[in-house]
Amino acid sequence: MEKLEIRSPEGRLGVLLPGMGAVATTFVAGVELVRRGLAKPIGSLTQMNTIRLGRRTERRTPLIKEFVPLAGLEQLVFGGWDPIPDDAYESALKAGVLERSHLDPIADFLRGIKPMPAAFDRNYVRKLDGPNRKAYATKRGLAEALREDIRRFRDEQGCDRLVMVWCGSTEIFLRPGRAHDNIKSFEKAMEDNDRDIAPSMLYAYAAIMEGVPYANGAPNLSVDIPALEELALERGVPIAGKDFKTGQTLMKTILAPGLKMRMLGLSGWFSTNILGNRDGEVLDDPESFRTKEESKLGVLEHILQPDLYPDLYGNVYHKVRINYYPPRGDNKEGWDNLDIFGWLGYPMQIKLDFLCRDSILAAPIVLDLVLFLDLAARAGLRGIQEWLSFYFKSPMTPPGLYPEHDLFIQHRKLKNTLRWMMGEEPLTHLGREYYE
Ligand SMILES: NC(=O)c1ccc[n+]([C@@H]2O[C@H](COP(=O)([O-])OP(=O)(O)OC[C@H]3O[C@@H](n4cnc5c(N)ncnc54)[C@H](O)[C@@H]3O)[C@@H](O)[C@H]2O)c1
Repeated sequence: MEKLEIRSPEGRLGVLLPGMGAVATTFVAGVELVRRGLAKPIGSLTQMNTIRLGRRTERRTPLIKEFVPLAGLEQLVFGGWDPIPDDAYESALKAGVLERSHLDPIADFLRGIKPMPAAFDRNYVRKLDGPNRKAYATKRGLAEALREDIRRFRDEQGCDRLVMVWCGSTEIFLRPGRAHDNIKSFEKAMEDNDRDIAPSMLYAYAAIMEGVPYANGAPNLSVDIPALEELALERGVPIAGKDFKTGQTLMKTILAPGLKMRMLGLSGWFSTNILGNRDGEVLDDPESFRTKEESKLGVLEHILQPDLYPDLYGNVYHKVRINYYPPRGDNKEGWDNLDIFGWLGYPMQIKLDFLCRDSILAAPIVLDLVLFLDLAARAGLRGIQEWLSFYFKSPMTPPGLYPEHDLFIQHRKLKNTLRWMMGEEPLTHLGREYYE
């Protein structure tokens, strides 16, 4: 197999984060703690996972970061935007995810990361407000101002390359419409201040125009529209999304494939959450929740394929609830009740109670996306990076192709893509060679 030509990851890699709340600050602080040897990057494939190459008898299992040319953590520099003017230290304190024993030793570093004025519009996130925002007559003007920010950051920080990851709040529910059809209609809609152009789309547009790979960690459309997919292909920029796969949905995509593999039936899956962080507050607005709900509900249907297995999954009652409950802060509790059935239709139940920490699960995803998207760009890959669907609740796919939600398939796809990039045979696990 031939290896892709991949530019080496020299110089500084700038990480731009629209939205500097709980996830973003937990990620940035975590990278700095790891760099200083004060913590370990648990949960990150790029930092901790190995990859098997060749036959089992060859015993070749390097770390992923030794196998593919990734930027090192010491090369990362951080910037971002937020309508709330808090620097990364204050924001992390308010988010309440990391303890002071982790934050105080790196307080100076975090205080140095101040959000740039955001392209923010309350019509899209009704529960929030903040003074640190740009004032422009048109959405086009806002997008151009974001492009200037990107160029300034690149120059001031001496970055060789940049990556942008949307860590902003979940915006209200929007359907893909005519404004999103192609680049021309999108640019016209920005000039006309069309309601269908949300702020997260302006960041995605600005990033792609500046040649910056873009990932969307929230369930709102952002880059997941034909116009921006076309722009990414045209400009040779990798994109990925959407909605980080953490917490309850992570559990769903671990459990559901297992039930299906064993041909066990499912009649109902009830999921409810209590959480009390700012994200929970935003999701208390029915319009923002609707965006999240769509993202969470799609998962089961795609994994279980009721059209292929009507006897097992033809009549699943799937319900998802998110309840804002301030005392819990970022430490969410997710309950699941699964009504399943087995041989001859006999019913059984599974109860799952996940006391999780959302941002602790999301931070390593941000890190991996930054490093893998930068790798993809250096390898000349463009457009939707489906091999990164492992990290998302609603993986982006081109029109007409259904997304793959099964975590195990996604994981194999990710690793096989790395093997393919490096000219190694993909693993099929067929294993005939050991017996011939
Ligand atoms: N934590 C997780 O496990 C997880 C999982 C999946 C998705 N997400 C999504 O990631 C996003 C971030 O989550 P969080 O817990 O950090 O939320 P958060 O509320 O702590 O942070 C979001 C930040 O985005 C800012 N923001 C809103 N609109 C903006 C704009 N137009 N420009 C710049 N900044 C803007 C807000 O002021 C806020 O500080 C949310 O959309 C959430 O739904 C999180």
